[in-house]
Amino acid sequence: MAPITQDTLTPPKVCVVTKNEEHGKLYMGALRRQFDISLFADASQAGDEIAQARPDVILVETEITQGGRIGWLSPDWARFKGKTPSFVFIAKKGEGFGDLMPRFGKGGRYLTWPVSAKSVTDAILDLISGEAEKAWDDLPEKHKKPLKMTVAEYQSISDHIAKGEPIDCNAASDSCAPLAEAVKQGEHHSLLHMVQSHHNYTYVHSMRVATLLTLFGHAIGMKGDDLIILSAGGLLHDVGKMITPPKILDKPGKLSEDEWPIMKNHVIESITLLDRATDLTKGARIIAEQHHEKLDGSGYPLGLKSTELNELARMSVIADIFGALTDRRSYKPAFPSEKAFAILEDMNGAVDQNMLALFKDIFLSTQPEEMSAQLAG
Ligand SMILES: [Fe+2]
Ligand SMILES: [Fe+2]
Repeated sequence: MAPITQDTLTPPKVCVVTKNEEHGKLYMGALRRQFDISLFADASQAGDEIAQARPDVILVETEITQGGRIGWLSPDWARFKGKTPSFVFIAKKGEGFGDLMPRFGKGGRYLTWPVSAKSVTDAILDLISGEAEKAWDDLPEKHKKPLKMTVAEYQSISDHIAKGEPIDCNAASDSCAPLAEAVKQGEHHSLLHMVQSHHNYTYVHSMRVATLLTLFGHAIGMKGDDLIILSAGGLLHDVGKMITPPKILDKPGKLSEDEWPIMKNHVIESITLLDRATDLTKGARIIAEQHHEKLDGSGYPLGLKSTELNELARMSVIADIFGALTDRRSYKPAFPSEKAFAILEDMNGAVDQNMLALFKDIFLSTQPEEMSAQLAG
């Protein structure tokens, strides 16, 4: 398998160049949780330091671009030692981007004041995710295909939702076929790791839950369409989060009493969106509707209890919680699998412990030694 490096698990590096102290504070406040961020006030002095830092993204206010030029940085990209950064350019209101747009094209994002923390963060994440997707082109087919097809499908689902069109569940199933194949070949641990270089968190989480569910299903003997239903159910299980306001969805701290019901409502949103499709499978609907239910009735939205949760619901609860715990977020590192299992084992009464023991055995017995050692270290 491909070497597992820590690169994808360290926060992306962002260099911010602004002469405006107040703007600098705003960028730092908005970006420091998610990125490894350095602030530079003087571009002409900063060039060498920025090149040495080898950032993923450089954020520059256009007033220091010398009329749309960044001669203090380019064109000597060799200084960046093979890692060409992407750019976010921010112009003052009423001022343009000079010749930056024609020169940088899609390699840049162009914002005009006033900017919000969200618009700056989104621009950076968009660039980093684009780079991650480009890097997937160089992976072996067995990894490239499941990643590329599921990310394209997730984008297509998002486009359908934005246009008010029903989700094409058959297309979601088709996009999961290479994923199911990769799981059968034992490539799931690599995929669970590799997908984290993307920065659309809902996609990353959904793809990982799809992978975990497929692994679970395959190991207990599910095949063919049944296995694909499980994969597609995982990919679609949180589509309602595309409706959830990002300030709640991506909130780094605890949600307030007012925010929790909005967060929980993603399940209702998912079901509303999925029920509009003409080709929704029963299995995918159960996964979307019941992955937050608990055996003791403390879950949501239905508050189902014990035998009201069938096998599929119980599997999706485990895959969803385990997937979330082992994901890296802006406010928490990825928990090692052992810690995630310990947390799930503490949820005795809420989570099916027999199924959990089975899943733990499947997951750990297929984990490559190389990865176990790295995660432990
Ligand atoms: Fe959910
Ligand atoms: Fe989820």
